[in-house]
Amino acid sequence: MSSEKDDLRRMRVLGAQLHQHNFRYHILDDPQISDAEYDRLLRELQQLEKHYPESIDPDSPSHKVGATWEPEDFVADRLPPVEHAVPMLSLENAMAPEELQEWLNRVRKGLELDDDAPDPPMTVEYKFDGVAVSILYEDGVLVQAATRGDGFTGEEVTSAVRTIRSVPGLLRGETPPTTIELRGEAILKTADFEALNAARGDDENLFANPRNAAAGTLRQLDPRIAAQRPLDVIIYGVGQQHGIDLRSQQDLFEMLPRWGFDATPFFRKASSGEELLSLYEDVLESRGELPFEIDGLVIKVDGAKLREKLGMRARSPRWAVALKFPPHQETTRLLDIQVQVGRTGALTPVAHLEPVQIGGVTVSRAGLHNPKEIERKGLMIGDTVVVQRAGDVIPQVVKPVESLRDGSEQEFHFPKTCPVCDEPVWYPEEEVIPHCQNLQCPDQIRGRIEHFAARRALDIDGLGEKLIDQLVSEGMVKTPSDLYRLETARVATLDRMAQKSAENLIAALEQTKQRPFARLLHALGIRHVGERVAELIVESQHDIDTLMSASVETLEQIDEVGPAIAASVTDFFSRESVRQEIESLRDAGLKMKAEGSARATDAEGPLSGLTVVITGTLPNLSRDEAKDVIIAAGGKVTASVSKSTDLLLAGDKAGSKLEKAEKLGVEVIDEDQLRQRISDAQAP
Ligand code: IVH
Repeated sequence: MSSEKDDLRRMRVLGAQLHQHNFRYHILDDPQISDAEYDRLLRELQQLEKHYPESIDPDSPSHKVGATWEPEDFVADRLPPVEHAVPMLSLENAMAPEELQEWLNRVRKGLELDDDAPDPPMTVEYKFDGVAVSILYEDGVLVQAATRGDGFTGEEVTSAVRTIRSVPGLLRGETPPTTIELRGEAILKTADFEALNAARGDDENLFANPRNAAAGTLRQLDPRIAAQRPLDVIIYGVGQQHGIDLRSQQDLFEMLPRWGFDATPFFRKASSGEELLSLYEDVLESRGELPFEIDGLVIKVDGAKLREKLGMRARSPRWAVALKFPPHQETTRLLDIQVQVGRTGALTPVAHLEPVQIGGVTVSRAGLHNPKEIERKGLMIGDTVVVQRAGDVIPQVVKPVESLRDGSEQEFHFPKTCPVCDEPVWYPEEEVIPHCQNLQCPDQIRGRIEHFAARRALDIDGLGEKLIDQLVSEGMVKTPSDLYRLETARVATLDRMAQKSAENLIAALEQTKQRPFARLLHALGIRHVGERVAELIVESQHDIDTLMSASVETLEQIDEVGPAIAASVTDFFSRESVRQEIESLRDAGLKMKAEGSARATDAEGPLSGLTVVITGTLPNLSRDEAKDVIIAAGGKVTASVSKSTDLLLAGDKAGSKLEKAEKLGVEVIDEDQLRQRISDAQAP
């Protein structure tokens, strides 16, 4: 006879297994079990749910159908919080061999070792340069994955982690532990990172380094996009464990392959400081050949007993230390310094270098930031220079090697006129970055159009850098609204274009007329107004006319909008050329009003005049449904809690918004109370 407790556990396991199979079937298109086996599991779950209706998981796969939505590259601002049962600590750093010895001395003292006693057993692993993740298995089923966050509360990234091929959804083996939380680093291999960036194309969308790309992928809301990016997780530790007792790194690394994980790429034992240093030298030498980035070694005292004896400091264990590598450096020649013009007119110097391999990546350019920086470093054209890369795509020039100068080097003078349009260079007050003020400067135009067309902005399919170059140099496009006046026949005459591709471009432009107002606002390229700020602004200023007449004070009321952003927005809309451009875009038919905003302000109802924020998972309504209910009742829905919020509608796993609401004394209600309010008000 099975007890109720067993049944409830079985329900949970079945639910997780079915989620996993749904995911493999619908999203990865790579099922692991037959349809018949799937049906058997589903029926078993439905049987149990009939027995225990009060314990049905609202998210149960028994009442879900497959995923049918279109893939959308959308990165979450905030994900549901996950509290770590065992805090995810960080590591103390040793920047040099001497600091390693100091750590080892403290360990010896902590373990009360006599002077003549040998060092304790230690293990050595790579320090992977990625993002820490915790992966929780219950009865062998992957049920939750989370980021480290502040060490106590992370963010839930289960769906993205389920797409990672090196993370088994079900642990292999006969008797999995009841609970095992594995911790490791999510990384992207260098080659995959470069391929991902190459595919992303335009400068704005490039990931700075593999670590950022891994972090961005974990935050992907669409698992199908996450699945296209080959993340790996390398496990290096254990959080909570029940029904198993892993007591050393050796224990862990022996279990991992049996459960279906890859063997860890590097694991050594060491029993003295000398051994550690010699391993350090070896790995430092060969790290450039590794397929992924590491930024040092992690040394851990092995064995649960010793670790317990050593204990913790505030944020890091005393039993482990990260022995960091210096950043990758090479020398090469500084061939030239060229000045680039950005879309805002900023003039930035860029070092052109003789191509050199640094840590597996070919480097031929390095940002120099501003003229002062060149002066400070004392760089001359023709210098041999030290260049370094700490994981970044655009590396840095550290310094010239003055001893190698032969007198042929030339001083660099920042141009007095814009290298593209020849207008005099302007130095804004209190800024080190010189500007070209000519709004008609072709590079600025190019930059603005590229920004307008970018994926995160209006996402104009097929309008890439090369086509923009042609459109701008042919004088066909000077402002974004010119795009909407393009004619197929004329576009078809451009290089590498034909009737069909021209028609596609015009059709793609037509589609942008359906993009939400916030995307257009972001696309306009107002200084300091990125994707998120644009959304927040649109939530309070529903249409372009309201926004254009908003004062600095009004804008500053918006959450996350400070004086600099507010001033930048009002300044932007005060320009005559901008106002004309807005009218042209309006005539072209672009959306200049937030969806549903008419209803939001017009509807009369029980929630009239109230501003509501939604947080957490509601028992019955999806967020969109809740939003509809509130708007229909006359309320307004905004994204973040502020002084002007009247109600917080909170569901399960409500996080920082709930805290903020409580702090500000905002009334918090649940879904039931929301229904109550609406039906009370409507009762005769
Ligand atoms: S052990 C309590 N091992 O480094 C020990 N961490 O600054 C916690 N990391 O957040 C971590 N490789 O993401 C450990 N082999 C390794 C590691 C590793 C990379 C990361 C980890 C952590 C950070 C600590």
